Amino acid sequence: MDHFLYRDGQLHAEDVAVRDIAATIGTPFYCYSAATLTRHYHLFTEALSPLPHMVCFAIKSLSNLAVLKLLGDLGAGMDVVSGGEYRRALAAGIPGDRIVFSGVGKTREEMRLALTGGIRQFNVESEPEMRALSEVATSLGLRAPITIRVNPDVDAKTHEKIATGKSENKFGIPIARASEVYAEAARLPGLEVIGIDVHIGSQLTDLAPFEQAYLKVADLTRRLRSEGHTISRLDLGGGLGIPYARSNEAPPLPMDYGALIKRTVGDLGVEVEIEPGRLISGNAGILVSSVIYVKNGEGRDFLIVDAAMNDLVRPSMYGAHHDIIAVEEPAPGVDARVFDVVGPVCETGDTFAKARPVAPLGEGDLIAFRSAGAYGAVMASEYNSRPLVPEVLVKGDHFAVIRARPTFDEMLSRDTIPEWL
Ligand code: LLP
Repeated sequence: MDHFLYRDGQLHAEDVAVRDIAATIGTPFYCYSAATLTRHYHLFTEALSPLPHMVCFAIKSLSNLAVLKLLGDLGAGMDVVSGGEYRRALAAGIPGDRIVFSGVGKTREEMRLALTGGIRQFNVESEPEMRALSEVATSLGLRAPITIRVNPDVDAKTHEKIATGKSENKFGIPIARASEVYAEAARLPGLEVIGIDVHIGSQLTDLAPFEQAYLKVADLTRRLRSEGHTISRLDLGGGLGIPYARSNEAPPLPMDYGALIKRTVGDLGVEVEIEPGRLISGNAGILVSSVIYVKNGEGRDFLIVDAAMNDLVRPSMYGAHHDIIAVEEPAPGVDARVFDVVGPVCETGDTFAKARPVAPLGEGDLIAFRSAGAYGAVMASEYNSRPLVPEVLVKGDHFAVIRARPTFDEMLSRDTIPEWL
């Protein structure tokens, strides 16, 4: 359940009419619901209790400081994958001991930043990275707490661009080589090995691949312990999927996912970490846009809207589905009208949906793309020199712009023309 519902014929974000936000700041914009973010975070903490655990929000899915502060105040940890995300977490008031650092290409500079600023653990992904981290930590007179990400060679059965747990993917070390790599890690002076990390992919709509991966991690935990390593923490990654097409999708619930975790690793006496992004942020956000024109094409009608692939790239990049609804609730008994919903960007890939029944919309009407909170604003760009899409947070009857739309002058002022030109 989210908090984007019709009330008195108008789509509301909690207690605020979406139409009123649009009238204040113009379109397009992202709108997030604080109550939905809160609810989704709590679903995970409840699902994992009473195991000792930490839910580390994957910042990459939605990185606005206001959202991070909201989740941080609830007790969430953060999963970061760059120095920029690490800085965001700190700027939002998250203490270093609640930040985990993932990613295959951490630079020495990023390692230094996190070691000096405070870190819960690095999730190390390769032997060269492990050696570099040991050197950096030693040079600072520190020991870096680490888990090593293992690649369990499991098919996550998700879109190929977001599957990460097969041996051909760039992530982690092959699980078969874990003993050897952990032995080297234990010898490196700047490292303190504390656990194992695994993440097999994103938007998983079946629990079976998680189960396969977590059983392998449980076996590995026993083996590494018998080889003398301390394994006190398991980071089980993120990836639980959400319903994008609400009429016919019902992915597993966090409660079922939590039960699976307890079943597979619950008896190991470890602290469990998870790194959900999409399930917390995805259905906590919508992208609101206005209809510019209705164009009658050959055998199809185009709804040309003022959001485009630069604002929400998922449909054009992954062929992703987002439900599209009218902000003004269609009157009962009114038939939907079928449109190709497209943006103004000059390429055919700028298509949000084909032959989609929406509502009999016309110029100036508002629409909302649902399930757009995750990997929406964070993947936006200024392609076609369209100013970066703004973000709004609603809580009860309050709303605030949490990232303003840049002016055209601000956008242009970032470029410089060399004086010798
Ligand atoms: N942990 C790690 C190490 C990850 O790589 C990811 C996502 C997550 C956690 C969070 O996964 P989630 O719970 O959000 O599924 N841009 C794509 C998704 C890319 C996901 C990358 N890694 C999309 O729009 O679908």
